[in-house]
Amino acid sequence: MVQLNAPAYVKNERLKQWVAQIAELTQPDSIYWADGSQEEYDQLCAQMVEAGTLIKLNDAKRKNSYLAWSDPSDVARVEDRTYICSAQKEDAGPTNNWEDPAKMRETLNGLFKGCMKGRTMYVIPFSMGPLGSPIAHIGVEISDSPYVVVNMRTMTRMGKAVFDVLGADGEFVPCVHTVGAPLEPGQKDSRWPCNPDVKYIVHYPETREIWSYGSGYGGNALLGKKCFALRIASTMARDEGWMAEHMLILGVESPKGEKTYVAAAFPSACGKTNFAMLIPPKSFNGWKITTIGDDIAWIKPGKDGKFYAINPEAGFFGVAPGTSEKTNYNALATLKENVIFTNVALTDEGDVWWEGLTKEAPAHLIDWQGKDWTPEDGKAGRKAAHANSRFTAPASQCPSIDAAWEDPAGVPISAFIFGGRRATTVPLVYEAFNWDFGVYLASTLGSETTAAAFGAQGVVRRDPFAMLPFCGYNMGDYFAHWLQMGRTVEHAPRIYCVNWFRQNDKGEFLWPGFGDNMRVLEWIVDRVHGRVGAKETQLGWMPKFEDIDWNGLEFSKDDFDALTKVDAEAWRTEVASHKEWFEKFGDRLPKQLALKRELLELAFQPKAA
Ligand code: GTP
Ligand code: SPV
Ligand code: MN
Repeated sequence: MVQLNAPAYVKNERLKQWVAQIAELTQPDSIYWADGSQEEYDQLCAQMVEAGTLIKLNDAKRKNSYLAWSDPSDVARVEDRTYICSAQKEDAGPTNNWEDPAKMRETLNGLFKGCMKGRTMYVIPFSMGPLGSPIAHIGVEISDSPYVVVNMRTMTRMGKAVFDVLGADGEFVPCVHTVGAPLEPGQKDSRWPCNPDVKYIVHYPETREIWSYGSGYGGNALLGKKCFALRIASTMARDEGWMAEHMLILGVESPKGEKTYVAAAFPSACGKTNFAMLIPPKSFNGWKITTIGDDIAWIKPGKDGKFYAINPEAGFFGVAPGTSEKTNYNALATLKENVIFTNVALTDEGDVWWEGLTKEAPAHLIDWQGKDWTPEDGKAGRKAAHANSRFTAPASQCPSIDAAWEDPAGVPISAFIFGGRRATTVPLVYEAFNWDFGVYLASTLGSETTAAAFGAQGVVRRDPFAMLPFCGYNMGDYFAHWLQMGRTVEHAPRIYCVNWFRQNDKGEFLWPGFGDNMRVLEWIVDRVHGRVGAKETQLGWMPKFEDIDWNGLEFSKDDFDALTKVDAEAWRTEVASHKEWFEKFGDRLPKQLALKRELLELAFQPKAA
């Protein structure tokens, strides 16, 4: 039997028993309890450099930073291998993969037996949310991946202090992770150990457990993030009357010093990190955007009748391609030091590069698969960085981080914004007539698929609330929960939809996006405070051309009309597809939403000649 090695400061017997039990099942060579210290981080990174998992970047270019290249089979979330194992199939709903929990436990028991042979088992205590905050929750991840340990240190409040909060009998969500690649005695480890053939990302919502097998990639392996903070937390939130959402949180400061917080849900790789760190155009003198979080929001009703939101994470696991000083200055500034890059390219100077970082690619690179790369390869369509390459960086390094980002009470939310990636049909921005209609719009949100998950790309799919891959229970019940939550607070936020990605028939974006999204955000903030007009459309309230501040941007009324056009023909097709979508949910679909759909269908009916 392997030594448990629990430090004296670990007082929680249930935790120790669980760790011992997992060790017996997985048979690691040794057990290591992570303390979250800088020395530990440095030592694990050095060990991974030795093993070939990490490349140390040039300190003069990128201080204390590393680059990892994953196995080519392990670059994104695997939605078809992700399971919600509730006791009843109906409780997972039609949008989740389901397996009978007893059967799944049997399968996983087989796979996990001896899976950590030849490896160290790390015990990683973490808090989602500021330590001790009433909105925060504790998890403990067991993993055989040192890459997971160092990433968890940046992404969560990880280490020794968590045990103080946990005490002798505190609650924690148990998370078990293995790369699924046991080592025979004497066998040399691979650079990026994983199981290229077998992957399981499994959630038991009723017992609040997570089991992940075979992948080392972010969303599959850093279990505090999508697995806990969304799939398990959404279930906790339903039971306890709060919300766990795939949302960024940002603050808008007006020239007069007025502060307005909004939360926005866009599907994976659809612009959350960029929007959260937006720098307004020069002409927006005195306006400032501050960042609370870029991916996940936990939202609870406050005593004053408003929703309060925290960012449960402590770092950014952001998309690299397309990120530049021009598109996201604050992200670049965050990436100066203490970063772990995954699947970007390596320059000859020992720094990193990805498509979109600079206009011109360097003359020579080593691409994310370790092969030589020149701009000629780029012209031939070979990317130097993987389309879903990522950076892991501490949120505290972000120049736009909000002074209240670690406030345990959270910040009050005035508006929810939902957006997808839609080349056609969906206008730039519209405001829902009321809460219920907003829930309808969010529940039918569509977006083109991206490289953040395996599968066909650029296909429009329904991604309600940007939560399709992340809701831990029946999405019909989730819609009902949202309808209900709007009634629990006196000051429910207004709901908006946006689309930065509408194209003309040449396939060019109609909207400049990025910093210019401030023009839309200002309209939203002014609406919230009752300062600006709008026109009524079938989809809700929309800005008139003159309601938007165009200072510093040449944008014609014709272009604006194309960008904001509500094409009745296209919407008839769209609303018909909502019907098909809703039918999936059977009687778990709130009646309210089916009625809203019928009304919208009528609104788009062609006028009798
Ligand atoms: P996840 O981390 O996967 O949840 O992604 P995210 O929602 O944070 O997306 P992110 O901000 O990283 O943006 C993803 C891609 O969209 C990047 O390549 C960006 O350059 C691009 N993007 C972001 N905002 C805009 C925009 O306003 N317009 C256009 N055209 N592209 C954008
Ligand atoms: C996403 O895919 O939405 C991400 C990255 O934010 S992951 O951690 O893989 O979920
Ligand atoms: Mn995300």
